[in-house]
Amino acid sequence: MQINDELVVSIEKLSNLGFGIAKSEGFVIFVENACPQDVVKIKITKLNKNYANAKISGFITPSPHRVEPFCPMQKVCGACQLQFIDYDYQLELKREIVQDAMNKIGHLDIEIPKPVPSPQIKAFRHKIQYPVAQTKVSKRLLAGYYKPQTHDIVNIKYCPIQPEICDKIIEFVRATAPTCGVSGYDEKHHAGDLRHIVIRNSASTGENLVVLVVNSNQNNENFSKLAKCIFDKFDEVSGVCLNFNPKKTNVIMSNDTLCICGTPTINEKILDKTFMIGANTFFQVNPKSAENIFRYVKEYIADNFESPVVLDAYAGVSSFGICVSDVCKTVVSVEENKSSTDLARKIAALNSISNVEINNMDAGKFFAAEKRKFDTVILDPPRKGCTVQSLDEAVRLCKDTIIYVSCNPATLARDLKYLTEKGCRVESIQPFDMFCHTFHIENVAVIKV
Ligand SMILES: C[S@@+](CC[C@H](N)C(=O)[O-])C[C@H]1O[C@@H](n2cnc3c(N)ncnc32)[C@H](O)[C@@H]1O
Repeated sequence: MQINDELVVSIEKLSNLGFGIAKSEGFVIFVENACPQDVVKIKITKLNKNYANAKISGFITPSPHRVEPFCPMQKVCGACQLQFIDYDYQLELKREIVQDAMNKIGHLDIEIPKPVPSPQIKAFRHKIQYPVAQTKVSKRLLAGYYKPQTHDIVNIKYCPIQPEICDKIIEFVRATAPTCGVSGYDEKHHAGDLRHIVIRNSASTGENLVVLVVNSNQNNENFSKLAKCIFDKFDEVSGVCLNFNPKKTNVIMSNDTLCICGTPTINEKILDKTFMIGANTFFQVNPKSAENIFRYVKEYIADNFESPVVLDAYAGVSSFGICVSDVCKTVVSVEENKSSTDLARKIAALNSISNVEINNMDAGKFFAAEKRKFDTVILDPPRKGCTVQSLDEAVRLCKDTIIYVSCNPATLARDLKYLTEKGCRVESIQPFDMFCHTFHIENVAVIKV
């Protein structure tokens, strides 16, 4: 096989990164924008030792699951890789990705059910983070997602996966920033002002918190003027903040945020609880789908335990702890991000909850020092999963059930393999679709220790 070779292949399945998988001469070929059941002509674009990459150059028989993407920008923007596949089949493909990970990485003999669908497949995304740049000659601001595998911004005017108001706010910022003397960021030369526009939108109240991430360590008149213009223009905007990020880094926000107008948080309702979301706080981007997960975990605890003591680790704003608090005797939560734990205390007070203990600490260190035992331990780590030490400690602290919530099937499978080797039993794994039209999938695993 050579680069630029053309061949006809059948797409067998979807890889865990959303590429179509075909096979030829013992080679695995990852094909861009391909759907299982496609029979296509492909052109090899890259050759590696054991696999190749390819692009579709023509169709022989398109998969019956292909649909017209509802977004005209789908082909150029990197955000919705799978939007050309019908939603029901997207769910089946994600189920197969989880099944594969559990069989191959986790060595688990367990049947994965179909994911619980997202309640909405449009306008479901409530956290928007657009990088900003400006054109060289006319100095027009550009804001949108990056083209796949590049840092070239697709200047997005309309994005159907987010609430319409966000398009309007971003359009206003694009037009108004230059009139306030605020320029777009030049990533190459680490120059210019506005690096990102971040919007936190509440699915339940419609409020918006706008965060202007600036290439500066302090406020100035121009930034304040822009913030005030945004705040005055939109009734739906309840606060405008500046986030100061002068470092040469790919990290979007620093920990340094200043509220310029209105309030620094918005309110979101999940089940019967009110959450506050700030500029830097972790909160699920699809609150309606997240609500399904919180309900599932709460019902599991209520159905299986009488007045249990629960540990909520990697807690963010203690979302699980607060949601399950009324079916628990006590919840102990642990989270390392201080702005999240500060907010968690305010959220507990806002909901008149007094049985959630909130700890600002590294989970591993907290586990190692902890003497109490817990009926249920909830683990909701970042994509990289848990450390072996944290898993050992979670088992030591747990009397009965670990509920492991994960946004990465591969690290979940790895951690489940480790827990199984230690003698734990995986009772069930339920996927939930939070990130429609992408290969991402959230899972809740119930493990008996
Ligand atoms: C996937 S989020 C889950 C947050 C929360 N459970 C929720 O659903 O909103 C993971 C959280 O773990 C926190 N985190 C990451 N590493 C940690 C560590 N070593 N110790 C404690 N918390 C950590 C992050 O700050 C983040 O809030």
